[in-house]
This record gives sequence, structure tokens and C-alpha cells, in this order.
Amino acid sequence: MIPGSSDLHFDRMPRLWVPLRAFLVAPFLGSAGGLLLVFAGDAAFSSRWVPSLLAATHLVTLGFITLVMLGAIVQVLPVVTGVSVPSSDWVAPASQLGVAAGVVAMAWGLSTGLPDITRFGTILLGGGLGLFIPAALAAAWKTRRNPTGRAMGLSVLSLLAVAGLGVYLLAGHAGWVPLRRDLTDIHAAWALGGWVGLLVMGVSYQVVPLFQVTPPYPRIVQEYLPAVGFVALVAWTLGRLNRWPVIANIGIVGVALTLGAYAVVTLWLQTRRRRKIRDITTDAWRTGMGSLALAGLITIAAVAGLVDLAEPKLALSFGIVLVIGFAVSVVQGMLYKIVPFLSWLHLQNVLTRHNLVGQVKIRNMRQLLPVKGPRRQFVAHLIALGLLLLAAWLGGPWVRIAGLALAADFAMLGWELLGVVRRYREDEEQIASTPT
Ligand code: HEM
Repeated sequence: MIPGSSDLHFDRMPRLWVPLRAFLVAPFLGSAGGLLLVFAGDAAFSSRWVPSLLAATHLVTLGFITLVMLGAIVQVLPVVTGVSVPSSDWVAPASQLGVAAGVVAMAWGLSTGLPDITRFGTILLGGGLGLFIPAALAAAWKTRRNPTGRAMGLSVLSLLAVAGLGVYLLAGHAGWVPLRRDLTDIHAAWALGGWVGLLVMGVSYQVVPLFQVTPPYPRIVQEYLPAVGFVALVAWTLGRLNRWPVIANIGIVGVALTLGAYAVVTLWLQTRRRRKIRDITTDAWRTGMGSLALAGLITIAAVAGLVDLAEPKLALSFGIVLVIGFAVSVVQGMLYKIVPFLSWLHLQNVLTRHNLVGQVKIRNMRQLLPVKGPRRQFVAHLIALGLLLLAAWLGGPWVRIAGLALAADFAMLGWELLGVVRRYREDEEQIASTPT
């Protein structure tokens, strides 16, 4: 029995490949984002509106972060709440395919300026997410009494806003509708604060105590924080759209305080770990939570007029801290637990199916993912983060160097995860070839 797992519904897990396919493809799309910076060079960092930067940003945010999160929802929701995403056996692969192919077309269309390819990307992304969102919302509605289910529901509602605005903005780049740049910040805030921030919160209520062996999150954090963050985002959006500066400021400070408080609570829980062995997931989450708290401070400083987030170098650094420092670090750390854990759990099922429990020795989680590779990859991730920040301020050849470091960071992650699957397959074959 896994500590803290007694209330989990492992019998409701989807088939292994339903989430795993997304987890394995995602790092290579992120890596493509780094390579795009290598090709585009200094020009990519000259302003936030450069199409090649938007393309690279989405290879990371949609191709890596969102693809993994789509896989995590179909996996975590049924295990935590017992409620599966309806028809996940075909909805999940179809929506993953739509997002993966759509982001490649989006990046290709934007960086080459070919509107037909951009239009194709718009349709694929709209279709992929359009398929996933109603199914996930239906499942989340049934689980609204569970804090993780509720946070996931609010996060998927945020994804609805992100996808709606994103598709409209991309249609603007493709020449279908006028490009409404006043909507870009709203799209980005719902993406990073709502979709990513609230989902990380909901998932962490389960995975931080389970995998990092911490005490549970305080009840008040689990019950109320995601809803407060969501309401603050609504207030900020209404303030922005209607030009009510006081409401907008209250809203954005509310978002920063909610996410900042969540980050501080997570860092505090990590100091109270019952098992103090150093591990990559904890290090990655520390980096993620430190970055999130820093982004919260910068936001509040900007509202107080102490810094100017319209200044291009600061705006770029702020985006890097949030996307690479917070979201990518946390998702990488989560993958290093979820992929070996799922593989191990499915191996147990294979043993049971073959009536060979206790008769064939299979690898444990540490043997499925030896620690040395992830350690090297985490160092590469920190180097990529540092170089991207340097490139934001110095530009020039640093952009290409940082792009290369980012490509290596993701490729190393992909390699480590493929290694887990290779070892899983070896054990599975060993079980299949053992006479019962
Ligand atoms: C259907 C999916 C999506 C589409 C079609 C889409 C499309 C776009 C487009 C076209 C822009 C540029 C707008 C402009 O030129 O003013 C943009 C900006 C942005 N998007 Fe998305 N997006 C999607 C999902 C996401 C997701 C899931 C995230 C993050 C998790 C994200 C993060 C951002 C950010 C941070 C910006 C602002 C970039 C900047 O200002 O430098 N997007 N999006």
C-alpha cells in the first residue's frame, strides 16, 4: 500500500497509454520551442509581439505544459475522485492529437508568415480543445465537492476562456478577423493564472503530500484558495475591459496574493517533509514555487508603481519566470513522479492478470527511473532558466545560446521518460514470457 493512498480509486485509472502518450510527446514539442529560438536568434527577443517568440512561447505553453496537463486531468481526476472524464479512451487521444498537431501548425504558420498554415493550426487547436473541455467540465461538475475536483473544474473553465481568446487572436494573425491586441494580456493571465495556476493547485493537494511526504495542505487553502483566485481573475478582467482601474488593480493584486500565498504554503509544507531525502521533484517544485512567489511580488510592485511591466526587458523576464521558472519546473517535477509511478502501478496489474504476484521480480519506481539522469537534467533546466533571463537583458548571441540550452533541457527530460517506458516494456515482456 502506498502511504496516504487509501482513499484513491486506482481501479478507475484510464489505460496506461491514454496519459502516457501526451507525457512522452510533450518534451519534444518544448524542445522544438528552444530550437525555434536558435533559428530566430536575437530578433525573437526584440519585442513580445515578434511572431517567432509567440511561436516558441506556445510550443512550450501549449505543446509542453498544456499537453501534459490534459494527460494529468484524465489520469488524476478518476484516481482522486472516482469520476472518469467521459469517453476518455477516444476524447483524450483525439484532443491530444489536435493540440500537438495544432501547435506545430501554429508555430510554423506564425514563424513563416504563411496564413493558410496558421488557419489550419487555429482549426486543429479549436477542435482539440473544443473536444476536451466539455468532457472535462462534465466530469469536474460531478466532483465539485472534492477540493481537487473543484480546482480542476475552475482550471478547465479558465481553459475555456484561454482557448476562446487564443483561437480568436490566432484567427487575427491568420487574417480572418481583426487582431485585438487589447485581449492578449487577458488571454495570457487566464492561461498562466487560471488554467496553469489553478490546476497545479488542485493536483498538488494530492501529489505533494503523497510523493513529497509532507503534511496535507491546510483545509482553508484546499477549500477556498482556488475559488478566490478565480474570482480575482474575473474582477481583473471586468476592470480591464470596462476601464475600471480600481477594480482591475484589486483583481490583479488578489490573483498575485492568492498564487503567492499558495507558493509560500507549499514551500512551508516542504520544510516539514517526513522523509528528508533530497529528490528532484522536491527541488523542481521549490524552483517552481520560488518563481511563482517572485512573479507575485513583481506584479504587486508593478501595481504600486515601483516597476514598469511595459518595459520590454522586464516584461520578457517576467514571462520567463512564470513560464519556465514556475510552470515548466513544476510540470517536469511532476512527470518524474507520475510516469514511473503509473508504469509501476500498471506492472502490478499485469502481474495480477497473469497470476504471478510475488513470483516475478519487477523493478520498483527508483529502478524504473534511476536518479542520476533526472539530476543532470534538472541542472540543465536551471542553466536554461538562467540563460533565458540573461538573454532577455543582453540579447545578441545569448538568445541562440539560451534557445539551445532550452532545447537540451526538454530533450533530456524526454530521454529520461522514454527510458522509463523502455524498462517498463522489458518487465512487461518478462512477465508475459513467464509460464504460469
Ligand atoms: C487554443 C490555444 C491557444 C491559442 C490559439 C493561442 C494563441 C495566442 C496568440 C495568437 C497570441 C498572440 C496574441 C497577439 O499577437 O497579441 C497569444 C499570446 C499568449 N499566449 Fe496563447 N494561445 C493558446 C493557448 C495558450 C496557453 C494554454 C497558454 C499558457 C499556458 C498561452 C500563453 C500565452 C501568453 C503568455 C501569451 C502572451 C505572449 C506575450 O505577450 O508575449 N496561450 N496566444
